[in-house]
Amino acid sequence: MYSTVLLAVAGLASQATADCTRATLQDITAGYLAALAAGKPTGISALPSGTVAYVENNAETDISKGVLSQGIKIDFNRTIYDTTQCASYTEVVATSKHAYVIGARLAVTDGKITKIDTNVCDDGDWLFNAAGSLKYNQQEAWDVIPEAKRDSRDVIKAAGDAYIDAWGDSKVNPPFSKQCARLEGGSYLTGNCKLNFPPPFNISRRLYTIDEQYGAVDVFHNFPFLDKAIARDPGTETNNFFRVEAGQIKYIHENTVCSKKSCAK
Ligand SMILES: *[C@@H]1O[C@H](CO)[C@@H](O)[C@H](O)[C@H]1NC(C)=O
Ligand SMILES: *[C@@H]1O[C@H](CO)[C@@H](O)[C@H](O)[C@H]1NC(C)=O
Repeated sequence: MYSTVLLAVAGLASQATADCTRATLQDITAGYLAALAAGKPTGISALPSGTVAYVENNAETDISKGVLSQGIKIDFNRTIYDTTQCASYTEVVATSKHAYVIGARLAVTDGKITKIDTNVCDDGDWLFNAAGSLKYNQQEAWDVIPEAKRDSRDVIKAAGDAYIDAWGDSKVNPPFSKQCARLEGGSYLTGNCKLNFPPPFNISRRLYTIDEQYGAVDVFHNFPFLDKAIARDPGTETNNFFRVEAGQIKYIHENTVCSKKSCAK
């Protein structure tokens, strides 16, 4: 009896792993984007029956009332696929009508979405300017990295972590490429990507999506200090999305939510 249960569990586990291919994640992400464009969250075929955990700007939200219900003309999208964790991360830029820059992470098990985490930025969020986001994002090259030149997951993750760790610790030296550029809201900053804030700086909530083929990692995390309308800790919600080449950070996209318009200290 006991061994039958164990075998069944082992069978399920290997099936879950086998299911998580890039093709599966690509299909599911395409379904998410179509639903976002149509304003019909129920149109996501990979949603399990019943409810799905849906978190918008770090707050649990009813999926039928969030940004997925709006109907958005998508001008730009870029997705990375993490087949190890079975998750995707997508950035979306919409410049018309109600302009948005959206980051969305889909967690998948057995071909179904189990959780959506999304940061939804619009007018009044940190340096928000969808036209700028569109322009600069489109100029960047995020090609698939040839297999022989790919960094390991650990190297890609460590580069993203070092960038975030350096915010409150100037002794941390993130591995920046000479061409490092940061798209912060709709502003483009080149030449020096290092950021420092007055310590202590406790960024302990971090949710990763990592894709070795694109040399990319996205991190949803808390951002202390910045938002003057709320407590310093844990602070507001952000996500930083990195392109890493040969161990060095080339691009950073920051999508930071303000609790009220123009939140800078
Ligand atoms: C997402 O981007 C791809 C590649 O640029 C494009 O072919 C596709 O139509 C876009 N999807 C949506 C829903 O806009
Ligand atoms: C950092 O924040 C986490 C959760 O927000 C908390 O549990 C932890 O105690 C904090 N650490 C320090 C050193 O303040």
